[in-house]
Amino acid sequence: MRIAIIGAGHVGGTLGRRWASVPGATHTVTFGLRAGDEPDAQLGEFIEASGGAARAAPVADAARDAGVVVFATPWKATREAVESAGALTGKVVIDCTNPFAAGLTGLDVPDGRSGAEEVASLAPGARVVKAFNTTGFNIMANPVFPEGPATMFYCGDDASAKRVVQQLASELGFDPIDAGPLSRARVLEGMALLWVSLAMGGVSGGAELGREIAFRLARRRSTA
Ligand SMILES: NC(=O)c1ccc[n+]([C@@H]2O[C@H](COP(=O)([O-])OP(=O)(O)OC[C@H]3O[C@@H](n4cnc5c(N)ncnc54)[C@H](OP(=O)(O)O)[C@@H]3O)[C@@H](O)[C@H]2O)c1
Repeated sequence: MRIAIIGAGHVGGTLGRRWASVPGATHTVTFGLRAGDEPDAQLGEFIEASGGAARAAPVADAARDAGVVVFATPWKATREAVESAGALTGKVVIDCTNPFAAGLTGLDVPDGRSGAEEVASLAPGARVVKAFNTTGFNIMANPVFPEGPATMFYCGDDASAKRVVQQLASELGFDPIDAGPLSRARVLEGMALLWVSLAMGGVSGGAELGREIAFRLARRRSTA
């Protein structure tokens, strides 16, 4: 797959590096940067050593050449990032952002809406899937736990786009679970707020368990 990553920070840098390194896969990853931005030193070294699997380019060029466009920008910068990516019609757009309100008091979107639906409204014709937002970037680097893989919930309105995300999550080692239509994104964004509360309780009054935690869906065979 040709994957563009818009927002080459903790989340985008981690996902892009991992997809460019999936054994046997032939993904090419382009990190979309704003004019004047350079990849940080670690990402620059990765690109150098990637043998062409990863590169950096201006945001619009990265998005134009990709079939999958990933947004991993701070929420406040996401509108500008989507607009600067140009036409996204027909592309799979993966929204990893979390529209947290200041002080982590809730979500900074109108009642009943989600950041993913806002992204979809900025990108007409794009096949938007919400994913890679309910756990930390450190878990995206390694989703393996003693109990089994962390769950990656995703949601969207386009079945074939969701299959792409299922594959990409699975390639990273997640247990991918379809959470339903894009309107479910408000639930996934709420889960992200819960993850932060549990990981960093000092910030928002939760349990303070640290970042090495992830949601995992428990399943068992029916005993009935
Ligand atoms: N951190 C996590 O564990 C985590 C987990 C799940 C979801 N998320 C969500 O994912 C998003 C990114 O989080 P993060 O922690 O990766 O943030 P981050 O480390 O600050 O990275 C954001 C990146 O986006 C770049 N950027 C900002 N505006 C841009 C624009 N208009 N066009 C292109 N790139 C732009 C930033 O560049 P500059 O640094 O040059 O400004 C930076 O490289 C947030 O919405 C966050 O809520 C985070």
